[in-house]
Amino acid sequence: MKKILFVASEGVPFIKTGGLADVVGSLPKCIDKRYYDVRVVLPKYTCMKEEMKQKLQYVTHFYMDFHWKQEYVGVLSAEVEGITYYFVDNEFFFNGFKPYSDNALFEIEKYAFFCKAVLSILPVIDFRPDLIHCHDWQTGLIPVYLKERFAGGDFYRNIKTVMTIHNLKFQGKWSVKEVKEITGLSDYFFAPDKLEAYKDANLLKGGLVYADAITTVSETYAEEIKTDFYGEGLNGLLNARAHDLRGIVNGIDYDDFNPETDKFIPFPYNANNFRKEKVKNKRALQEELGLERDDKTMMIGIVSRLTGQKGFDLIAYVMDELCRDNVQLVVLGTGEEQYENMFRHFDWKYNNKVSANIYYSEALSHKIYAGCDAFLMPSLFEPCGLSQLMSLRYGTLPIVRETGGLKDTVQPYNEYEGTGTGFSFKNYNAHEMLRTIRYAEQIYYDRKREWNKMVDRAMAVDFSWKVSANKYQEMYDWLIG
Ligand code: ADP
Ligand code: GLC
Repeated sequence: MKKILFVASEGVPFIKTGGLADVVGSLPKCIDKRYYDVRVVLPKYTCMKEEMKQKLQYVTHFYMDFHWKQEYVGVLSAEVEGITYYFVDNEFFFNGFKPYSDNALFEIEKYAFFCKAVLSILPVIDFRPDLIHCHDWQTGLIPVYLKERFAGGDFYRNIKTVMTIHNLKFQGKWSVKEVKEITGLSDYFFAPDKLEAYKDANLLKGGLVYADAITTVSETYAEEIKTDFYGEGLNGLLNARAHDLRGIVNGIDYDDFNPETDKFIPFPYNANNFRKEKVKNKRALQEELGLERDDKTMMIGIVSRLTGQKGFDLIAYVMDELCRDNVQLVVLGTGEEQYENMFRHFDWKYNNKVSANIYYSEALSHKIYAGCDAFLMPSLFEPCGLSQLMSLRYGTLPIVRETGGLKDTVQPYNEYEGTGTGFSFKNYNAHEMLRTIRYAEQIYYDRKREWNKMVDRAMAVDFSWKVSANKYQEMYDWLIG
C-alpha cells in the first residue's frame, strides 16, 4: 500500500473559495484504494462551515518552534466518504471570516507555519507518507523543509514530493529578510537558483525547485507557463525543469455534478430527456431571478470568482452591444469591486435581461449550470477551469477563449463536420468574443436541431476523474518506485 498525503489550503466539503477546493475534495476519492492510502491535510479555519466543524475530532496538540516563538499546533481529524482528513489548528493563524486575507505578509507567515506544522504532525499521527502531493504556493515550503531541517531524521528520509500548480499567478512573495526570519531557513536557500526570484523570496519557487516532480492542471497550461506571457516570471525555471513538468487535466465529481440526481435543481434531467426537461430549469431560474419569462430566449450563465483572470474586461467592453441581442445573462460571483459593480450596473440598466448575483451560493451555481443554454468563460488565462466541465455535464454549451484547460476541454463547433461541444475564440479581443457569442446565438435560434446535437455530444464527453486519476497514479508509482 503506497501512502500519499495531499496538502492544500482548501478542500471540499470543508472549505472552498475556488476550483482548488474541488480538486482536493474529489481527486483523492478517485485514487485506487486497493493500492493507495490517500489522506489530506487542511488548515482548520474558524470560518469553516459549522456542520463540518462538528465532524472534526480532536486528536492531539503540541507546541512547535516557529518564528522565535512556540506555537500551538492542534491536530483534528475527520473521515468523509472513506478519506481521512487531518486539520492543523491554530487560532491566531486560521481565524477570520475568509481563509485568505489581503495582508500578504500575514499570508506568508500563516502558510509557512502550516507547512512546518504539517511535517511536524506526521510522526505524531503515525503516518509516514511515501509521497506528499503539494498544491499551490501555500504548500511550497514543504519540499524545501523536507530537504532542510527534516532531512536528518529517518522518518522523513526519502519522502517524495509533487508540486501541482493550480494558478501560477499566486506565488507567495515577500522580502528575503522577513521570509528568512519567518521560515528560519539559512542564507543558502535565498539564492536565485533556490527561493529567491527578482530579489524577493518566493515560496512557490521553493516548491518548484525542490519538488521531485511538477504538474499543472492541463496540458496546454503546462506549455503556456514556459512562455513569457503566461510564465509569471518563473518560465525560466519551468523550462529548466521541463522534463519533470507535465499537465494532467482536472476532472469533476460526477456524483456531485449530475443533472439526474442533483438536489439543488428543481427539474432533474439526463442525456435522453434534456430536450423536454432542461428548459423547465430555465423557467424556474427566470422566475427566481426576476428575469423575463420566455422559454425561447437564449440564457447565458457565468459562475466565477470576479477577477481579471476570467476575462471580464472583454465583457465590460461589449456588454451594451451584447444586450441589444435577444439574450439573458445570469452572473453569480464575488471578487474585485470593479467587476462586482460592473455587473450590478448592468443589472440595473438591463433589469429584465441581466441578473447579477454578487454572493457565493452552491445552490444557485447548480441552478445556473442546469438552467442556462450557454456558459461564458472568456478567460485571459485559465490553468484548467472546472466551470466549463460542469456546464458540459449539464448540457450547457461553453463559450470560451482558447487558453489553458479551456482549450483542452471544449471542442469548438464545426458546422461542416457536425462536431464540437461548444464555441471558442483565440485572441483576447472583445469583438472576437462578441462575434463568437453571436455565432452561438445564430445556431441556437436558427439551427436548434444542430444545437441540440451539440448538447448530446457535450453531455457524452467524460470529464470524470477516471483517466486523470490514473495519470497521477502512474506518476506516484514512478516517483516512489
Ligand atoms: P477558479 O478555481 O479559478 O476559481 P474553476 O473554474 O476551476 O475556477 O473553479 C471555480 C469553482 O468555484 C467552481 O466549482 C464554481 O462553480 C465555483 N464558484 C465560483 N464562484 C462561485 C460562487 N459565487 N458561488 C458558488 N460557486 C462558485
Ligand atoms: C485554479 C485555476 C483554475 C483551476 C483550479 C483547479 O484556481 O484558476 O483554472 O481549474 O485552480 O485546478
